[in-house]
Amino acid sequence: MGVLSNWYNRSLDRIWGFVEDRTGMRKWALRPQPDFTFKPSYWTGAFVAVAFLYQVVSGALLLLYYQPSTAPTLTACGQLAGAYSTAPAAWCSTYYLMNSVPMGNLLISTHLYGAYAMIFLMFVHFFRGYYLGVYKAPREFSWMVGSLLMVMTLGMGFTGYLLPYTQISYNATNVGLVLAIRLPTFGPLLGPFILADGTSQGLLSRMFDAHVVLIPLALAGLLYAHIALFESHGIAPPATSDPLQRRRFTEAEDRQHVPFFPHILFYMTKWGAVYLGVLFGIAALWPWSLPTYVGNTAAVGVVTEPDWYFLWLFKFVDFAGVTPVIAVGVSTVLFLYFLFLPYLDRSKRTHPRDRPLFIWAGTSLLEFFILMTVWGGETPGVQITQMTVATTLGPLFLVNAVVIGLFHWRYRSSYQRRLAARVTPYPGAYAPSPSPASPPLSASSEAKSLE
Ligand code: HEM
Repeated sequence: MGVLSNWYNRSLDRIWGFVEDRTGMRKWALRPQPDFTFKPSYWTGAFVAVAFLYQVVSGALLLLYYQPSTAPTLTACGQLAGAYSTAPAAWCSTYYLMNSVPMGNLLISTHLYGAYAMIFLMFVHFFRGYYLGVYKAPREFSWMVGSLLMVMTLGMGFTGYLLPYTQISYNATNVGLVLAIRLPTFGPLLGPFILADGTSQGLLSRMFDAHVVLIPLALAGLLYAHIALFESHGIAPPATSDPLQRRRFTEAEDRQHVPFFPHILFYMTKWGAVYLGVLFGIAALWPWSLPTYVGNTAAVGVVTEPDWYFLWLFKFVDFAGVTPVIAVGVSTVLFLYFLFLPYLDRSKRTHPRDRPLFIWAGTSLLEFFILMTVWGGETPGVQITQMTVATTLGPLFLVNAVVIGLFHWRYRSSYQRRLAARVTPYPGAYAPSPSPASPPLSASSEAKSLE
């Protein structure tokens, strides 16, 4: 075993030495990480990136078959006999892929579920960062670029939904567009750009272009900036109550950290393989079925419903008194809150027990999104009275305030008591009268700071 691992290490050194010599690169672009980060919770962003990569690959394969046209005359429809020969080509080509191309159904199902997974993982990444205060200095820009990535990712979902050209996606896209063109300032500018010449073909072409060229380019550019910022700051250490605790590693610490190659790469490859295994397993067990096409006169009872990640907004419009302008206004305010969060939450402490107000706001918003999503899925399009809104959301926010307030009071006072009882607080711990320097971060000192 020892001989084998020596041989392996020597071979890696030789290969890497060769690459360094020929490229002039002195170290891997991706920086080393401390060993306490080898837990999935530290790599939620990398999971999103893996999901994004699979979307790019599967999307490129889908492009081989997809025809972005509303006309029923293209080859895709000719290949389908009988009733379907009058359906729009965008739908026919999707139907053909799913039913006649080997593994076509698996390909499109993994692309669709992969999109759900990417959006879900992005929310996990976002809320983890929110609760652990990773947006605090020096990572404010990482957070803000991340917020733009969130918009782009949701934009990918929105534009992709119309592409199979099903009646349900067409109806929901129209609801979304009505909201989008009511955006203050941007709406009137966006309107002509999205709606093109006002025809269905114009809209489909714009959505197709946005889905396969414009948004992926923006996403890739923002992702590059996001990862470059991450490389410059290193991973955020665990949350702490110590306002002086450094949030950035020094070069000397970096040298003791685990290198990207092979450790981090292998670690991520393992999780990437798990991700693909689960995705393909789910797609094989529960393949997607294509709803009916736009304009099918035989279809009855087609509901208007967006994908799950827009259901909260869709339901919000059902609230009595909420006009599209109000819905768009509220979502804009929410976005601005998330975007500028690093400058709203000014305290230097990252531990949730030190940020009751922001933990309350985040928890209430998270519950609001979940509740509205379930509500939207259960009763799409059913009006909700102001009384029901008040009696459902009011107590929820109130209970959050009471529970979080009690936790804050309980933990802060017991934490202060324990600190006061200590003759010499451990190095790097939060002390009411700040000391000028903090010692280097380590897993153990951080674990203590979370006591
Ligand atoms: C397409 C969506 C996104 C991708 C692919 C992505 C990717 C990544 C990656 C690879 C990292 C490195 C560390 C890790 O794996 O967690 C990271 C870190 C980070 N991301 Fe994202 N991210 C996305 C969206 C977001 C969003 C929506 C936010 C918040 C608004 C955000 C904020 C951050 C912050 C603050 C860090 C530094 C965290 C730390 O050091 O622990 N990201 N992201």
